Amino acid sequence: MYTLIDGRKIASEIRSELKCNISTFKQEHNREIGLAVVLVGDDPASQVYVRNKIKACEEVGIKSYAFYLPREVGQNELEEVVRSLADDGKIDGILVQLPLPDHIDSEKVLALIPTEKDVDGFIGENIGNLCLKKDCLVACTPNGIMEMLGRYGIDIKGKKAVVVGRSNIVGKPMALLLLNADATVTICHSKTADLKSECLKADILVAAIGKAKFITADMVKKGAVVVDVGTSRDADGKLCGDVDFENVKDKCSYITPVPGGVGPMTITMLMCNTYKAAVKRG
Ligand code: GUN
Repeated sequence: MYTLIDGRKIASEIRSELKCNISTFKQEHNREIGLAVVLVGDDPASQVYVRNKIKACEEVGIKSYAFYLPREVGQNELEEVVRSLADDGKIDGILVQLPLPDHIDSEKVLALIPTEKDVDGFIGENIGNLCLKKDCLVACTPNGIMEMLGRYGIDIKGKKAVVVGRSNIVGKPMALLLLNADATVTICHSKTADLKSECLKADILVAAIGKAKFITADMVKKGAVVVDVGTSRDADGKLCGDVDFENVKDKCSYITPVPGGVGPMTITMLMCNTYKAAVKRG
């Protein structure tokens, strides 16, 4: 019998704890906590993400500042917006929604975010500090997954963890966090030879591929903990993950559903990072 990891429940617990902490912070420091959200263009998925981030800010008591820029915005103009947010004392965290349009050099834009305001944990110094196991702002999705595993009392030390996907946003920081928690970590990707045999070794399997129902039952070891980062649509347009949930679940000790697993944790960790950035700034 498997246990379903309830991301909505944990996210809601964390948000209510955070709401209290933020309220205390605002009284003690006599100021708001500010998160700037920059959205370029009108990609519908990005618009939904940004709307949800702003809603989460309202829920926990963070003041959000939204900047909606047209798709045709120039590199210099966008850089100017980020530069001014970097210098703005009201702003504790800066989030530039990705992906940016092709004519924009994303790396140059992200490089303008000061390390201490990089609440997405995307820039080099935060990733470097994560690698060195120093305190830093950690990318929200992998950070949320660690929080879920922790709250369900899932042991990581000495376990074999397999992360499928090597993106800078999820796969790489996920692998570093699991390594920092003393797992033996393998990162798999599109060029991995015999992916199935690598996955079958996993006590903890994190699927961050971006392909619907990619992880099938024959790839999962009995008793494994399976974490699904995917947000694809199936043939009927229904949201589904990277894991073939219906067929995989009975092999698992724990599994995250889609929706209601990793998703609600990501934005919650963004709120946590913004609070953390504010506390650090004082
Ligand atoms: N695009 C998809 N996921 C994310 C995220 O976590 N942060 C940002 N900034 N953009 C994204």
